[in-house]
Amino acid sequence: MQIVRESKDLEIARAEWADYRVAFVPTMGALHDGHLALIARAKDQAQRVVVSIFVNPLQFNDPADLDRYPRQEEEDLAKLREAGCDLAWLPIASEFYPDGFATTIHVSGVSDRWEGEHRPGHFDGVATVVAKLFVDVAPDVALFGEKDFQQLAVIRRMSADLGLGVDIVGVPTVRDEDGLALSSRNALLSTDERERAVALPQALEAAREAIAGGASVAEALRSAKQSLIDAGFLKIDYFALVDDATLEPLEAMEEGSRLIAAASIGDVRLIDNLAV
Ligand code: PAF
Repeated sequence: MQIVRESKDLEIARAEWADYRVAFVPTMGALHDGHLALIARAKDQAQRVVVSIFVNPLQFNDPADLDRYPRQEEEDLAKLREAGCDLAWLPIASEFYPDGFATTIHVSGVSDRWEGEHRPGHFDGVATVVAKLFVDVAPDVALFGEKDFQQLAVIRRMSADLGLGVDIVGVPTVRDEDGLALSSRNALLSTDERERAVALPQALEAAREAIAGGASVAEALRSAKQSLIDAGFLKIDYFALVDDATLEPLEAMEEGSRLIAAASIGDVRLIDNLAV
């Protein structure tokens, strides 16, 4: 596996692969089985796989969140080697965003609600870094987890709007045995919080069953929120049924409905979603 930190070296490596189909998995490191599932899918889709590790400062609206984001480069590189990644791209922040960097990509509509409302500027940071990574890596296909469902919708919209020529593939969420979606943030949960966190996927599943069984959406959402409060979640940012492309809220189930939720246990904020 090649480890590349400077863009001139990425350019050389990428030129050597001009005749190959290249798949790209962007990450912020702290790799877990969810990322490994993306890499496994990437290997099915292309002849070469590039994985980036870059904790992107632009997408953190809270500096404390950026500071405590887990960083474990050596462990991550060992996992990438094991997973069969061909090239690890670890941009240097000062080269990636040089002094004077002044461009922001804003994807209207799909970015605005939910995470967009609770983390102002977050999706501008995501869209900007992903567009820039796409320019550097020039992949044929890029893979993103469905766990960050709104992010996936934002990236699909941006790639289509800008005609980036990258196929965007969403990969189903990987879950622990008890159903909790894998996330780099799970490492921040105490043992007690980790046990109680399972209430989030359980609430989504219960709401899905209720809505699919004909219950009113408003009632299913109300009861799901109550179950989170009962489990000790202190703050529920949203729990909603939405259209899976526009992320607009729905009052009744339609084709392509998705339940999305964000809630905090202790000071760890978790997000999850489920197709209905
Ligand atoms: O999902 C993530 O880890 C990040 O938002 C991404 C897509 C790597 C952009 O920094």
